[in-house]
Amino acid sequence: MSLLELRGVCKTYVDAQGGQALLADRLDLLVPGGRIVAILGPSGSGKSTLLKMVAGLEPPDAGSIYFAGQDLAAVPPERRGFALMFQDFALFPHLDVLDNVAFGLVEQGLRRAVARERALQMLAVFGLHSHARQKVWRLSGGEQQRVALARALITQPRLLLLDEPFSALDAELRTRLRDEFSQRIAATGITTVLVTHDEAEARAMAQQGFRLLQGRLLPLW
Ligand SMILES: Nc1ncnc2c1ncn2[C@@H]1O[C@H](COP(=O)(O)OP(=O)(O)O)[C@@H](O)[C@H]1O
Ligand SMILES: [Mg+2]
Repeated sequence: MSLLELRGVCKTYVDAQGGQALLADRLDLLVPGGRIVAILGPSGSGKSTLLKMVAGLEPPDAGSIYFAGQDLAAVPPERRGFALMFQDFALFPHLDVLDNVAFGLVEQGLRRAVARERALQMLAVFGLHSHARQKVWRLSGGEQQRVALARALITQPRLLLLDEPFSALDAELRTRLRDEFSQRIAATGITTVLVTHDEAEARAMAQQGFRLLQGRLLPLW
């Protein structure tokens, strides 16, 4: 049984010169629950657009997206229960680490004190406990991405969407974080779609991988 299903999704952008970019061409994707699935593809192939359509930030031109059997067409992003994590500016610079992680829980209606208590527990799990009251811009790039993952996971999303989560980091840190991230995601069991142009990273993290090429997904493993 697939948790996330894309059926015949189409998306074309027309640029100012009238040129067309065909990013999704009757694209199908089935993501089983509890899996990490990777989408590979060069820059400009439409990976981010695909995630935005799943998140509800961009409508498909045609086709359908289902989650747990429900057609998402009429479900706004904030009611999908999905978490998105991007490569840069994933965090709020004006908030400290603790309030960045607590943010999603406060949004869900939890009292601030309760949200902060939970966020502190989450930070302890991530080994970031001692940074709780620091401004996020004081942290290293790797620490910032870990805070971003903690913030995404704490809300217990139904689906985690990772858009090139490590591309701002150096190679050594990328390798370390991809192992840590896959373990943490596996521990939560959250179904994840990872978008990256790094095949080694995709193979290390995902049970299934596809290449996005001319609007279609080719199975790689
Ligand atoms: N809102 C938009 N309007 C017009 N063109 C867009 C828009 N968003 C993305 N594009 C174009 O679509 C192509 C794919 O973008 P994107 O999904 O960001 O690819 P990737 O994430 O694989 O690099 C790019 O050429 C980009 O310029
Ligand atoms: Mg992108």
